[in-house]
Amino acid sequence: MTVPSYYPWPFSRGDNTFRYSVNVSRARELAHTAVGSWGRYVVEVENDHDYISACRARSRILYEDPRRLQVRDHMRPACWDTVMFYLRELCDARPDVMSLRTDGDHHVWTNGLLEQEVRFRYGDDDTVPMGPLGFIGSQVPEDLLLLSERDGQLWFDAGIVTFAGSWSFDFDLGMSFHQIHSPIPRFTGEGHTGAAERFMMSLTPDNIYRRTNWTFSSTGTPRLDTSLEAMPSWGWEMPALIAAQDWGRIQLRIETEHFIRLPASGGLVFSIRTTMLSLADIATVPEWSRQLIDIVTELPDDMAEYKGMTDYRAPAMAWLAQAAGINSPAAEHYSTCRDCRHPGRMPAASTPSCAATIRASRSTTSTPSAPRSMMPAAYARS
Ligand code: HEM
Repeated sequence: MTVPSYYPWPFSRGDNTFRYSVNVSRARELAHTAVGSWGRYVVEVENDHDYISACRARSRILYEDPRRLQVRDHMRPACWDTVMFYLRELCDARPDVMSLRTDGDHHVWTNGLLEQEVRFRYGDDDTVPMGPLGFIGSQVPEDLLLLSERDGQLWFDAGIVTFAGSWSFDFDLGMSFHQIHSPIPRFTGEGHTGAAERFMMSLTPDNIYRRTNWTFSSTGTPRLDTSLEAMPSWGWEMPALIAAQDWGRIQLRIETEHFIRLPASGGLVFSIRTTMLSLADIATVPEWSRQLIDIVTELPDDMAEYKGMTDYRAPAMAWLAQAAGINSPAAEHYSTCRDCRHPGRMPAASTPSCAATIRASRSTTSTPSAPRSMMPAAYARS
């Protein structure tokens, strides 16, 4: 396929190493990539088919597993606040097919893409299907995570999460911000958890921020739901892909996240929009391929382990170099290496010669630079 021009490539131009940071920047500003641009709206509805299929997937998942929508009682006002915020955002993004009007003490929401009209009264749970968070979650492709502040800390107290990437909403709900982020290597220890929490607490309703996050998916298809709850239905996929050495099917999982302070309740929303891009598609964009190879091969082992790519990153990046036509030792290595090319063999990344060859190839593609934090200086870690 040709990569759609609005895909949110998660790395800044020129970066060729990656470390965790509080990499936030202002929302609603266009970000330019090698193929186009993205980010004008908080909720982007660029492709009607993708939007409709994500909304349908969400309702199917919720039907099968109602635990994906949970709200602690005290979060009800924040849920209604979330409804109004996102309906207005959808109208901004797609005024041709979405509208919100008032009719007496009711609102009338029309969604032309989902062919729905919903008449509701603000604050009256009985007027919307599945309660306010279930209703707004059915209109946006984003996972919505809601937080409240108590005792000087943030707590994850409500959400509608059907597309989690290798974590469990049911398990994490009720945890503090620190508890959720404590397993991430080089995050809490380096002060990023504290800085990120301070940043969240300082948000105001008129200043919305965003960041991108990336990893490789645990499946070889663009399936969005790789939650731990659903693991029995996808857990076999990566071992099969690795055994077949079918590297082009590996999916880069890109998360576009927004940070929002709700105006009426003061609650916080953390939204995650997930986009999948296969290595085969990335190979059609040499600038992206070169950057991804640099970043993935340089990534420290503990971060690669957390992101689950230790077993295959070397041969997968060697394959990408060759498929993208990048003339490098990594590509040459792939064309001759038995470990990388032979289906059914053990993953080649664990073969020291493969990893060493591919790492060495970095020096011929570009020079590493320090990771860049886009965090406003005021929130920087002391
Ligand atoms: C500026 C704010 C934030 C930053 C910089 C941040 C950063 C991170 C990072 C680096 C990861 C690891 C992801 C990976 O390597 O694939 C992560 C995971 C996660 N974050 Fe955040 N985060 C932020 C805000 C939030 C908020 C507000 C929530 C809401 C509850 C949240 C919930 C999660 C969850 C559930 C995970 C998955 C944890 C797991 O693997 O078990 N984050 N975050």
